[in-house]
Amino acid sequence: MDNRQIVLKTRSQGVPSPTDFELITGEAGRPVEGKMLCKTLYISLDPYLRGKISGRHLSGAIQPGELMLSETVSQVIESQHPDFSEGDIVAAFTGWEEYPIVDGALARKVDPSLGPVSTTLGILGMPGLTAYAGLMRLGEPKAGDTVLVSAATGPVGSMVGQIARLQGCRVVGVAGSEVKCTWAVEQAGFDACINYKTQDVREALKQACPDGIDVYFDNVGGDLLQAAMEQLAIGARVVLCGLMAQYNSDDMPPGPNPAWTIKARATVRGMVVYDHEDARGEFEKAVSGWIRDGQIQYLEDSADGIENAPEHFCRLMRGENVGKAMVAL
Ligand SMILES: NC(=O)c1ccc[n+]([C@@H]2O[C@H](COP(=O)([O-])OP(=O)(O)OC[C@H]3O[C@@H](n4cnc5c(N)ncnc54)[C@H](OP(=O)(O)O)[C@@H]3O)[C@@H](O)[C@H]2O)c1
Repeated sequence: MDNRQIVLKTRSQGVPSPTDFELITGEAGRPVEGKMLCKTLYISLDPYLRGKISGRHLSGAIQPGELMLSETVSQVIESQHPDFSEGDIVAAFTGWEEYPIVDGALARKVDPSLGPVSTTLGILGMPGLTAYAGLMRLGEPKAGDTVLVSAATGPVGSMVGQIARLQGCRVVGVAGSEVKCTWAVEQAGFDACINYKTQDVREALKQACPDGIDVYFDNVGGDLLQAAMEQLAIGARVVLCGLMAQYNSDDMPPGPNPAWTIKARATVRGMVVYDHEDARGEFEKAVSGWIRDGQIQYLEDSADGIENAPEHFCRLMRGENVGKAMVAL
């Protein structure tokens, strides 16, 4: 039986082109013990594949000449694994091919009663889990919050917006066409959707989020992330999830790159000391003890006389002070 496969021909430069891939035809394999021959029903296409093509995704690279890898939903044709029978629908990480040999140990049965089996790759699969866990665990939405989400009609963004709506939040989407924005509002129940290709995003954000943004779920990075950050409400949570604006570029954009925060699953929080006056007692007790015990060293950079205050301040702002800048009178 023929098995058509798509392999990566050459690493994409910029936006991928169909000529970066090649269709080849080989012979379908026969399953040995523990494996199954399957017929692919659906292949998941996801933005992270762009990173695999470039060789910079945390799940590893796809080399030129190799099969394009992807999560798939397929039907078992012949099984040599005791837990799977002919006709079962399975999800597995296989690739862009018609008849994969699937390792039963790495496959999971799809329960068609949960929803159409195609949703295993979308809203009931990896993108859906990304939205659910990212919003509920990291975004911590509360009823009444304004939640902003970019790439608002994709499987991640649309689920973020709709789960937020079901938590009682006001939901604002950002998407790249009128068709997408209309769908977000009329079908997915978003309160508003900004078309970033035709609208002044900063002005539109002001209108749509008059009290600021409580949760921003970022799927794109770039200038949209910057614009959303400019209008965060006090105590806002920003979930850095994806970087559509930079996946096709080989150059790192200037400024702190959200990629490192995502890779490290890091938490970045804004600090304003005025909010922590209640910690003063505990702080003074701890630090005075450490000073007394010689466990803490410190530097002071003191100028003498009030007339030297301006120059000493300028030294500080030039970075020339060594330790706590002050003026002794
Ligand atoms: N962190 C994780 O574990 C994780 C897991 C899954 C997905 N993700 C990320 O989540 C994001 C959404 O994934 P998805 O599967 O739901 O994809 P998707 O939304 O179906 O597709 C990506 C969308 O990004 C938007 N976009 C914005 N700027 C773009 C640009 N410069 N070039 C191309 N597209 C641009 C486009 O929609 P508009 O026209 O509306 O802008 C496009 O349709 C991606 O960044 C993905 O990498 C992260």
